Amino acid sequence: MAKPIKKALGVDIGGSGVKGAPVHLKRGELLAERFRIPTPRPATPKAVASAVAEISKHFKWKGPIGCTVPGLVRDGVVEMASNLDATWNGTHVARLIKKKTGCKVAVMNDADAAGLAEMKYGAGKGEKGVVLLLTFGTGIGSALFLDGRLLPNTELGHLQLGGQLAEDIAAHSVRETQELDWDAWVRGGVQEVIDHIEFLFSPDLIIVGGGASRPDRWAEFGHLLHTRARLVPAALGNNAGIVGAGIVARAQIPRKRKRKKSD
Ligand code: BGC
Repeated sequence: MAKPIKKALGVDIGGSGVKGAPVHLKRGELLAERFRIPTPRPATPKAVASAVAEISKHFKWKGPIGCTVPGLVRDGVVEMASNLDATWNGTHVARLIKKKTGCKVAVMNDADAAGLAEMKYGAGKGEKGVVLLLTFGTGIGSALFLDGRLLPNTELGHLQLGGQLAEDIAAHSVRETQELDWDAWVRGGVQEVIDHIEFLFSPDLIIVGGGASRPDRWAEFGHLLHTRARLVPAALGNNAGIVGAGIVARAQIPRKRKRKKSD
C-alpha cells in the first residue's frame, strides 16, 4: 500500500479570497506564511483555477494540492456553489486545477475540510459523540461528525427559516453589509439559526469557525449565544480551511512510490 503524503499545498477558495500555504500534515501547521489573492470577479471556475495556479507558482509547488470549495462537492465535481458563479455547477474542479497546475489535486467542501482540521488538530481533537462545526463568513458552512467521522455536504447554511436561507440572515457578511452591531446580528438571526440546528441534531459540541471566530470578534459575540451543547470557537482560526485542504490531499492522493532499482 502506498504511504500517505507528508506535505501538501492547502488552498482555501472563499467568496472573497483564495488563500494557500504548504501544510505539514503530521503537525497540522503551515510551513510558510499564507499567500492570498482576492477571489476573481466573475468567479468563474477558470479564473479561480488560475488563482490557485498563481498560489502554487508562488510556492514553486510541484507536489499534491488539496483545495476547498464553498459549495457541494462530490468526487471532484462541484454540484452547487452559490457564492461563486453559476458556471461552477457540474464542473470537475479537481481536473481543471490539475490542468492549470500540473499537480495532483483533491477537492472538498470548505466547511467539511475546516471541520476535519479542527477534529484532528483543534477544538474537536479527541471529541466523541456529535460535533458540529458552523462557519460564519461570506455564507454559513457546516461540518457534522459522529465519533470523529464526517457526514459530508450537510449544507446547513441553506436551511430555510421563515422563507429565508439561514445564511441570508446570519452569515458574518450580513453583519458587515448591514453594519449591524454584534447584539443585533445575534438577535436578528444567528441565535435563531443555531437554535434550529441544535433542535434538529442535538450536538454535544458546537465549534464556531469562519471569519467570525477571530479572537477579537468572538470576544464580542461568543457570550451572547445560548446553546445546550458546549460552544467553543475554532482553534485554528482562519487557517482551518488551508490545513483541512492539506488533510483532504493526504486522504485522497497516494504518495508517489520511489522506483526500486530492480523495477
Ligand atoms: C455554501 C457551502 C459553504 C458555505 C461556507 C455556502 O453558501 O453553500 O457549501 O460551505 O457557504 O463557505
